[in-house]
Parts: sequence; C-alpha cells; structure tokens
Amino acid sequence: MFKIEIVLPLLAVTYFSLPSLPLKVVFKSTESKVENNKPVFNEVWLEEEGDNDIWMMNQSHHGLDYPKSEWDQVKIIVDKKTKTTTFHQLKDNEEIPLKVDCNMCHSNGPRTINPNPKSVTLLDKLKVLQWNIRIKSYGTLQQPKSDNHQYLKSETCIKCHNGGENFWERSKIKKENFLAIKYLVKNNLMPPWPFKLSESEKEKLLNQLK
Ligand code: HEC
Ligand code: HEC
Repeated sequence: MFKIEIVLPLLAVTYFSLPSLPLKVVFKSTESKVENNKPVFNEVWLEEEGDNDIWMMNQSHHGLDYPKSEWDQVKIIVDKKTKTTTFHQLKDNEEIPLKVDCNMCHSNGPRTINPNPKSVTLLDKLKVLQWNIRIKSYGTLQQPKSDNHQYLKSETCIKCHNGGENFWERSKIKKENFLAIKYLVKNNLMPPWPFKLSESEKEKLLNQLK
C-alpha cells in the first residue's frame, strides 16, 4: 500500500509544487450524500490566524451550479495551543445557529477529505494530501460537549481513539458517530493499515451501532 516508489515522487512533487497549489478546492464528496443519493459538493480552504487553524467549507446539496450565495457555510476552528475545537455555521458570513449536530461526524475536529477522484485535478489532490497530513497530525482535540456519550470499546479502534496525548491518538469514538464509523469501516478506511478488524470484531462493532 505505501510503496516507496510511489510515495517518494509524490512527496517530491508536493514539495516543489507548493507555491502553485490551489488555495481552495471544490470537490464531490465520497462520504457525504444527499438523502436521495445525489452528490454533495464541498469547497474547502484553510485560514491561519495565530494559534488557530480555521477550516472553512461551503457545501451544496443542489449540484455545482447552485448559486454560491445559497451554499451552506460551515467552519471549524482548531486552537492548536489549547488543543480544542469549535463548530460554526454562517450565513452571509454572519454566525447563525448550527443546523445539525457536528459532533455526529466530527468526533475529533476536522475530518480527512476524500474527494471523488474524478471531481478534482492533480494539483487539487496534492493540496488535499497536504491538508490531510495536517488533519491527521493534530492528535486528540477536545470537542464541544454533546449529549450522547456512549463510548465504543472495540479493541482495535481504541489503540488510537482513546483520547491520548500522542500525535496519532484521537478523541474516543462514540455511538453517535455511527454514520462516519459505518462509512469508514465498510470502505476499509478504518482501521488504517496495518491494523485489521477480525470478522467477529467487525460484526460486534457494527452491531453496537444499531
Ligand atoms: C453526516 C456527517 C457530517 C456532519 C453531520 C457534519 N460534517 Fe463536516 N464534514 C464531514 C466530512 C465527511 C467531511 C470531509 C470532507 C469530505 O470528504 O466530504 C467534512 C468536512 C468539514 C469541513 C472541512 C474541514 C474538514 O473537516 O475536512 C468543515 C469546516 C466542516 N465539515 C464543518 C462542519 C460543521 C460546522 C458541522 C455542523 C454544523 C458539520 N461539519 C457536520 C461530515 C459531516
Ligand atoms: C492506528 C491508529 C488508528 C486505529 C487503529 C483506528 N483509527 Fe480511526 N482514525 C485514525 C486517524 C489518524 C484518523 C484521522 C485521519 C483519517 O481519517 O485517516 C482517524 C479517523 C477516524 C474517524 C473520523 C474521526 C476522526 O477522529 O478523525 C472515525 C469515526 C474512526 N477513525 C473510526 C475508527 C474505527 C471504528 C476504528 C476501529 C475499527 C479505528 N478508527 C481504528 C487512527 C486510527
């Protein structure tokens, strides 16, 4: 999976093309779908202010041609010093109440971005790779409180999702994260290589989510 002859040139290209990488990426999401299975389009960019990484996203549930002013505007602020996150929803750049419970899919602040590969250019892919490395290396981030706190204790998952202090560790995963968990486990995105879920552990985990 991590073949050196693929990874090295990719890193070199990423490094040398840094100045020309796009600042914003628009893509078709692989995980997020509208209820009738129609695609969701996201536009993501990152702003940096002091200790804060501010992840911005505009989202359309009505195709790419939907007027930009009508796209949902959301934002996640990561305070790298205090290791905390906050969630925000905007309309015309003004803060409005959150439309959904962000904790549901974001159990540790920003999520890695998985564009449908056909929806982006090579430079977009490199930009996303660069962002994802940053997102993966935040470590555990404290989330805003949510009501539902049934932690999942799947042995393989809590090797990393345990609220620990190492950079590869993340907030604990909970029953309320069922959508994200089902998607990641069914598509073999979690656990990451070289970890593996035994069939019985997988079944036990998916059963806990019912
Ligand atoms: C149903 C699951 C789900 C919910 C609920 C959700 N998100 Fe996300 N969000 C995602 C996924 C998945 C991504 C990664 C982009 C992609 O691959 O589609 C994402 C990406 C983002 C990003 C871009 C930065 C990043 O994390 O990659 C922001 C900002 C964001 N979401 C904010 C919010 C806010 C604020 C809320 C609550 C109002 C929210 N999201 C609710 C699934 C969700
Ligand atoms: C080797 C460490 C490791 C193991 C083991 C692991 N994860 Fe993850 N997990 C990560 C990292 C790092 C991320 C963030 C980057 C990404 O999405 O790849 C993540 C992301 C996630 C997310 C999105 C929320 C977040 O923290 O970004 C969920 C949900 C998740 N994992 C579920 C699981 C489940 C379920 C298992 C067990 C089947 C599991 N993971 C096993 C390291 C791990």
